[in-house]
Amino acid sequence: ATAEKGGYDHFMLKEIHEQPKAYRDTMGSRINADGSKIVLDEIRMTEDQIRSIRNIHVVACGTAYHAGLVGKSVIERLARVPVEADVASEYRYRSPIITKDTLVVVVSQSGETADTLAALREAKRQGARVLAITNVVGSSVAREADDVIITWAGPEIAVASTKAYTSQLIAFYLFGLYLAEVLGTIEAADLRKTIAALQELPEQVENILQQSAKMESFAKQIAAHNSLFFIGRGLDFAIAQEGSLKLKEISYIHSEAYAAGELKHGTLALIEEGVPVIALAAQEELLEKTLSNIKEVKARGAYVIGIGLEGNEELSEFVDAAIYLPRTLSLLTPALSVIPLQLLAYYASLAKGNDVDKPRNLAKSVTVE
Ligand code: G6P
Repeated sequence: ATAEKGGYDHFMLKEIHEQPKAYRDTMGSRINADGSKIVLDEIRMTEDQIRSIRNIHVVACGTAYHAGLVGKSVIERLARVPVEADVASEYRYRSPIITKDTLVVVVSQSGETADTLAALREAKRQGARVLAITNVVGSSVAREADDVIITWAGPEIAVASTKAYTSQLIAFYLFGLYLAEVLGTIEAADLRKTIAALQELPEQVENILQQSAKMESFAKQIAAHNSLFFIGRGLDFAIAQEGSLKLKEISYIHSEAYAAGELKHGTLALIEEGVPVIALAAQEELLEKTLSNIKEVKARGAYVIGIGLEGNEELSEFVDAAIYLPRTLSLLTPALSVIPLQLLAYYASLAKGNDVDKPRNLAKSVTVE
């Protein structure tokens, strides 16, 4: 059994370590040889059709939805098209405003999730064009969408999604840049710079994986607690939500993700001596604001683990323990900052003696409503 796990104890750990390859494979030939252009030959939408897009709805479930939250920011920032992100089970029943100029992007590792598939069908019925981001060639979602971007993460076995999620992030970066190129919302120099930064990500992920022992020791500390918080702003908040879900899924520790600036409107009441708070502080332009939120929880006795960027080591003065990520563009930090959180969830689950790859009550793919 360890053989099929490539020498790792669990599929999840193997899949976490496969991420540098998954990033490379998903980028693959979708970046031209001199790094100046995104090549998405699989997109059949014409440039005119792209220019007629008025709004984008990203629809997915679970971890794929969290990739959609990052995708929303990525597309809005790069292509300046308004994007909404919804969980599929809500989207289907909330009478979303869909027109023929709406692009619906469904995100699904398996391509078989019932709610996501139903949302896709409803969107098509109402005349929208549908783009699928999926990991399974020939899946229902891939077959029924108008356009498909395959994430080349390879088969994902562990119920808790890791490499499929980060490959979805890469797909959103590629698609966002592609839209920006067509719509003329990015300068050639910025495009090159972003592509170069994307290409550095796999090695940077390797660097973070080398810090696994640190995450293992943090995980042992939090495993004794029954509730904790993840906080962050902007893209860090999207990652906080994914980190919280990952931890809940496999460690069964209750946790909540909070927009750091929103703490004072309620959640701060739950912070007392020793409550662990994982603070994401990788959005440099929001760093000062996040540091002030960290001070708020520290003042109430929280035990804070900070996640920041190399070069911003002043974070250590505000937190109890910190981990630093290699520097990248703000927009790309999610592809790095989620890695320590995956490791944290993995080691917390392990510390609690849980079945890491097959958590109780959960299925890899939910094909019924
Ligand atoms: C299940 C899995 C999650 C996954 C979600 C959506 O709940 O346990 O890991 O994120 O379904 O799955 P999909 O295959 O559509 O990405």
